[in-house]
Amino acid sequence: MNNNEIIDAKIKKMYELIAKSKQGGGKKRIESQYAKGKLTARERIEILLDSGSFREIDALVHHHSSEFGLDKDVFLGDGVITGYGTVNGVKTFVYSQDFTVLGGSLAAEHGKKICKIMDMAIKTGCPVIGLNDSGGARVQEGVTSLGAYADIFLRNTLASGVVPQISVIMGPCAGGAVYSPAITDFIIMVKNTSYMFVTGPKVVKTVTHEDLTSEELGGAEVHASKSGVAHFVAENDIHAMEIAKQIMSYIPSNNAEDAPFKEMNDPGNRIIDELNYIVPANPNQPYDMKEVIKKLADKGEFLEVHKDYAENIIVGFIRIAGRSIGVIANQPMIMAGVLDINSSRKAARFIRFCDAFNIPILTLEDVPGFMPGAHQEWEGIITNGAKLLYAYCEATVPKITVITRKAYGGAYDVMNSKHIRGDFNFAWPTAELAVMGAKGAVEIIFKREIEAAENPAEKEIELTNEFTDKFANPYVAASYGFIDEVFEPKFTRARLADAFALLENKVDSNPHKKHGCIPL
Ligand code: HXC
Repeated sequence: MNNNEIIDAKIKKMYELIAKSKQGGGKKRIESQYAKGKLTARERIEILLDSGSFREIDALVHHHSSEFGLDKDVFLGDGVITGYGTVNGVKTFVYSQDFTVLGGSLAAEHGKKICKIMDMAIKTGCPVIGLNDSGGARVQEGVTSLGAYADIFLRNTLASGVVPQISVIMGPCAGGAVYSPAITDFIIMVKNTSYMFVTGPKVVKTVTHEDLTSEELGGAEVHASKSGVAHFVAENDIHAMEIAKQIMSYIPSNNAEDAPFKEMNDPGNRIIDELNYIVPANPNQPYDMKEVIKKLADKGEFLEVHKDYAENIIVGFIRIAGRSIGVIANQPMIMAGVLDINSSRKAARFIRFCDAFNIPILTLEDVPGFMPGAHQEWEGIITNGAKLLYAYCEATVPKITVITRKAYGGAYDVMNSKHIRGDFNFAWPTAELAVMGAKGAVEIIFKREIEAAENPAEKEIELTNEFTDKFANPYVAASYGFIDEVFEPKFTRARLADAFALLENKVDSNPHKKHGCIPL
């Protein structure tokens, strides 16, 4: 062979190896993947990233184990595809577990590949998206597999609040493996093909005698509605990638960047007449706060997070005049919008994400208070309610509140009141700021007068009306400066667009500390 032939042969060998690395676990296993309604690991990356942008890293990594005949099962890539590309033009690191290779099981080399891209993401300030489809720790490789998981958990924790992390669960995710997604910011689960649990149905049956399928124990819908582990449910793999892209469109690449601006061609000063009549005159009648959110948002677009969990509070992303905004809103349609354990945790988590990544916060408030009852007390409404309070208190991003109706009791303080660094606290004329609702208040402070009255029922109504006239309004709070401005609901979007623009360069900080001790 002459010089060029030798070089060509080397190049040919390189391409053969690269081609081999792309084969995954072979035709039969890929067909089995399709039969389950799942795409392959590579197809998922192709759909997620902007066309042609993916650069693979570590395609030629393989395991070096020979235990239990593993030396006969060597696959280039070791069951996970890693690399980087762009999502909506934003540089992003990605890993995609390949279930067709040893069940996507995670062992030393597979884990190292994930750690490598996570380290690069932290250093370069880029988001990480993990596509999970794995049988868990590779049984044959034993304790090194467990070590590899711990290496990932550490990086998930170090990256938390530095770069956004999104986990998409597209197959099994069991045992300790669940804790990597659990530390990340958002979990998207695919309906019918994904599940997450610490212990599977067989062990559960032996230990607790509960007879459940994987779907019933830890499927997408269960985690979206009951546990709150999943933030989003996708219909299929393609939909899951769309959701990941939507999330990415609202968030910055790292904690040093501002939230992205997107020109939406929807004027900030748009007047919304319908908002004037959205709150019913009867304070006990509900209305849909999601309608308020959508009317305020650019082009009515609202990416709701945790849609099916703790529905008495709503959280998600909108844009106002092109700016990304995190919305937290009480939902009068569900349990009158009361704050309970789950809604407090849900909102607290979202607020902390927004604050970590410089996304301004809008609070829409209509809250009758905290949920009473033994169940809530015994399960820890005190500690959990405190999480929400703590999250609001420590947040230094621009924070604006609009009180649409009720702002009662401790919940008034908690929902980003002026006292905990609300930058602008607005109210509609329908707002009622009080220690409690008029009826409850009258029963306490006029107990004796009511009992002594000739007609107690009549007296109670009279005093309740008197109390309502005096206190169930925004003007007492406004007289102390707790409310900056009361305006007609139809001007809300215009006032918010203006206020968020003003707060664009807001600087605020907390005392220096290693970290606070949030009541976990
Ligand atoms: C090695 C594995 C594997 C694993 C699956 N495979 N899981 N190989 N280690 N953990 C292999 C199978 O041998 C098979 O290889 C291929 O992947 C596909 O698996 P199937 O069983 O044929 O697929 P399916 O019927 O779809 O069932 C998927 C499954 C099942 C439910 C995930 O494979 C399973 O129960 N796996 C074990 C799950 C588990 O217990 N993992 C450990 C959890 S503990 P072939 O060659 O036949 O295609 C854990 C600890 C982490 O993860 C701790 C962190 C702190």
